[in-house]
Amino acid sequence: MQNFISLSQIDEVAQKIKSQISIQPIVGIILGSGLNGLANSVQEAVNIPYGDLPNFPVSTVHGHAGRFVIGKLEGKPVLVMQGRIHFYEGYTMGEVTLPVRVMQRMGIPSLIVTNAAGGVNADFLPGDVMLITDQLNLMGMSGLNPLMGPNLDEIGPRFPDMSQVYDREYCNLARSVAKENDVTLREGVYAGLSGPSFESPADLRFLRLAGADAVGMSTVPEAIIARHGNMRVLGLSGISNKANLDGSTITTHEEVIEAGRVITPKIEKIIRGVLRGL
Ligand code: HPA
Repeated sequence: MQNFISLSQIDEVAQKIKSQISIQPIVGIILGSGLNGLANSVQEAVNIPYGDLPNFPVSTVHGHAGRFVIGKLEGKPVLVMQGRIHFYEGYTMGEVTLPVRVMQRMGIPSLIVTNAAGGVNADFLPGDVMLITDQLNLMGMSGLNPLMGPNLDEIGPRFPDMSQVYDREYCNLARSVAKENDVTLREGVYAGLSGPSFESPADLRFLRLAGADAVGMSTVPEAIIARHGNMRVLGLSGISNKANLDGSTITTHEEVIEAGRVITPKIEKIIRGVLRGL
């Protein structure tokens, strides 16, 4: 367990990956629960299991393979995370966000982050895709900001701005790609909680009042670290279940993974279109 990861530890991982690939990725893509399928479409793929990398946490969640897949999608060099590291697995914020730091030290300027989320907005249905336009850093509000600890001055400032976490141009590109492909794209605010328990009805009523449209257990720390190092970020949530504000239904991980089957082709179309437009 490591609270604060040093620049040299990040660089060790970046070097090890670089030594195994012959392309320079221009986009990092993080695939969320049940959305791993896209990694199998990567061309000329080099697979690097997280377990082969120094200082690297290994994902333990069912539905998360746990490896980098580096290659081409739509002709663009990408580094895909097939399986992310979650805070609820017991890793520190530094470990959870190490992959984004590695992307930064590899010189990757853009991040596409995806997740499975519960629909808090009453209009959202399971199977919908939501463009993340902003985020609620509830983990940070309770003292779990991934930037706590010594600042990595080589990467970014002590007090980074978060006025536009999700890149406006990328949002517009995603909107037009969704339109061209007849994919209905919802939009809204993603609230990041630590999990692993799902929310109580009272939690969900609170989140709705706070302005959340979707809720999940990831993404927010990764997006903060990405912005700290000035990466441009696109965020997409797959709405896997409807938030249960009155306690009348239950939420299960199986439901989340199952919804991924409907959501993956939609998210894949958007990501492919965005890559073509970059
Ligand atoms: N809550 C939190 N995280 C989630 C949910 C949810 O309802 N669905 C998928 N990830």
